[in-house]
Amino acid sequence: MPPHSTIRIGLGHDTHRLGPGSGLVLGGITIPHDRQALGHSDADVLLHAITDALLGAAALGDIGELFPDTDPANKGRDSAEMLQAALDRMAAAGWGIVNLDCVIFAQRPKILPHRLRIRGRIAEILRIDLEAVWLKAKTGEGVGPIGTEEAIAAECVVLLERIEHA
Ligand code: CDP
Ligand code: ZN
Repeated sequence: MPPHSTIRIGLGHDTHRLGPGSGLVLGGITIPHDRQALGHSDADVLLHAITDALLGAAALGDIGELFPDTDPANKGRDSAEMLQAALDRMAAAGWGIVNLDCVIFAQRPKILPHRLRIRGRIAEILRIDLEAVWLKAKTGEGVGPIGTEEAIAAECVVLLERIEHA
C-alpha cells in the first residue's frame, strides 16, 4: 500500500449579502463601516471561508454540515467558536496547520489598514504564528455584486501537515 500523504491542501469560499449597518465582522474583529454582512450567524465571511478550508483539507465535511443554518442554536453564533470546533476536529484527525492565505473581496472599506489586527486574531484563534497567516483584499472594480456592495466574499487556502502517525 502506498504511504499516506503527509500534507493536505484545502480551499474555502464564502459570500454574504450586505445591508445597511454599523460594522463588518471580518476575521473575528469588527471594522467600522456603514454596511454589514447579513446571515444566520455573525456573518463573518472570512472565518467561514477559513473553516471550510480546514474541513476540506482534512476531509471532514463543511461548515453547513457541522452548523446547519436551520438550527436555532446557530443563530447569531460566534464564527470564532465554529472555527475552533473545526480546528479541534482537524487536530483530532492528526493534522496541524502549516500556513493559510486568504483574500477578502470587498469594494469598501479598505482592508489593508486592519490587516495586522485581523491576521493577529486569526493566528490567535488557530493557535499558530502570525507569519503563518496572510491576508489580501481586492475590490470588485465597481461591477457585479462585490463592486456594487451588494455582497462581500472571501477565499482561503490552507496547507496542513500530518502531526500524528497512526
Ligand atoms: O489594483 P488591483 O486591480 O489589482 O486591485 P484592487 O481591487 O483595485 O485593489 C487595490 C489594492 O487595494 C489591493 O491590492 C489592496 O491592497 C487594497 N484593498 C483594500 O485594502 N481593501 C479592499 N477592500 C480592496 C482593496
Ligand atoms: Zn458565511
